[in-house]
Amino acid sequence: MAKTIRVGIIGASAQGGWARESHVPAVTDLEGLDFIAVATNSQATADAAARAFGVPSAFASGLDLARSADVDLVAVCTRVPDHRDIVLAAIAAGKHVYCEWPLGKDVAEAEEMAAAARRAGVLTAVGLQLRANPAAKKARELIASGTIGRLLSVSTYSSTAGFGPDVPEQFLYLEEPANFANLVTIQGAHTIDLAVAVAGPLKDLNALTTRQYPQIAAGAEGERRPRVTYDHLLLQGRLAAGSALSVEVAGGRPPEDTPFSLRLVGDRGVIDLDGGAMRGLQSGRLGLALNGARQAIDEGELAPLPDAAANVGGVYAGLRDAIRGGSSGVTDFDHAVRLTRLVTDLLASSETGTRNTSPDWPTG
Ligand SMILES: NC(=O)c1ccc[n+]([C@@H]2O[C@H](COP(=O)([O-])OP(=O)(O)OC[C@H]3O[C@@H](n4cnc5c(N)ncnc54)[C@H](O)[C@@H]3O)[C@@H](O)[C@H]2O)c1
Repeated sequence: MAKTIRVGIIGASAQGGWARESHVPAVTDLEGLDFIAVATNSQATADAAARAFGVPSAFASGLDLARSADVDLVAVCTRVPDHRDIVLAAIAAGKHVYCEWPLGKDVAEAEEMAAAARRAGVLTAVGLQLRANPAAKKARELIASGTIGRLLSVSTYSSTAGFGPDVPEQFLYLEEPANFANLVTIQGAHTIDLAVAVAGPLKDLNALTTRQYPQIAAGAEGERRPRVTYDHLLLQGRLAAGSALSVEVAGGRPPEDTPFSLRLVGDRGVIDLDGGAMRGLQSGRLGLALNGARQAIDEGELAPLPDAAANVGGVYAGLRDAIRGGSSGVTDFDHAVRLTRLVTDLLASSETGTRNTSPDWPTG
């Protein structure tokens, strides 16, 4: 029987947050993973999380969990500015690492973490979990096998309730551009990465970022202040195969809006992906239709997982298999570096009004 991988999750609070909704159910339910440690930013909340999740070890600091001898795989689910130090500590301790997206707050930080992992020979995964979504994988296969013929155009719309006019205290860090955690770097990056995963690499792009809510009400007091990040993104690009890509990503949208749609039109057919969740396409299941007919998607071991955990479960399953030596299909830190570059370049394109191209964007 294959060895069980002991997992520690940093940032898994019993109170709520992304780790509780996605990482905890995935690690708890999937075969071959043993959820053995949790860290938050105080001993009291870590102890409460350990009790809530039935986990034996609780750490008051992510750095302590990262260095724990009992852990094989460290999941880093803290906010973006806190990723680097914890990730580097985990790598230095010889751990495999799953770090949430965005990996770092700029290309240099992402490169530093990717280089450290390569030198240490540990395996990495980044939280671009849509690549592990079964419907997205099916769409990629259908494109690659020529089911809809030559791909002509790809258009996608993705919205979120986040990044609207009212910003609670816990999300104010998303309004600071230096944290690289905003609509463009999070929702925009997930959306573009999915399009590229399914349809192939981008050859060039131009982007337009705007503010649909130029004033925000910040924190509990609702202090009025100008928004300095962007809450809307339009991107046009050419894919390497020659097809056209159009992307719209919108923040602050009401529940009535469509969370996500992606249409791939070939010269012999059409594929539609839809689904997602109000807080973004990355947080929910996706469905697939071929020429208007909904297709059954075999989710395998991900089927029992709650919606918010299903895609993240796909990342854990891939990383588990890679650690066991059985697969190499994990979206790793090197990919995260490439996507960080693409996002940086699209922001520059919007600032300067120029069309950008680079050999260093995601390769597909
Ligand atoms: N991939 C996705 O779809 C997706 C979705 C949501 C959030 N995220 C990412 O997940 C991460 C967490 O987001 P969130 O909204 O849950 O944030 P959050 O602030 O709600 O939760 C962060 C948690 O980290 C803990 N923490 C902070 N500093 C710590 C430290 N030094 N050591 C240990 N624990 C520490 C806090 O106690 C808290 O429980 C971010 O990187 C975010 O970008 C990804």
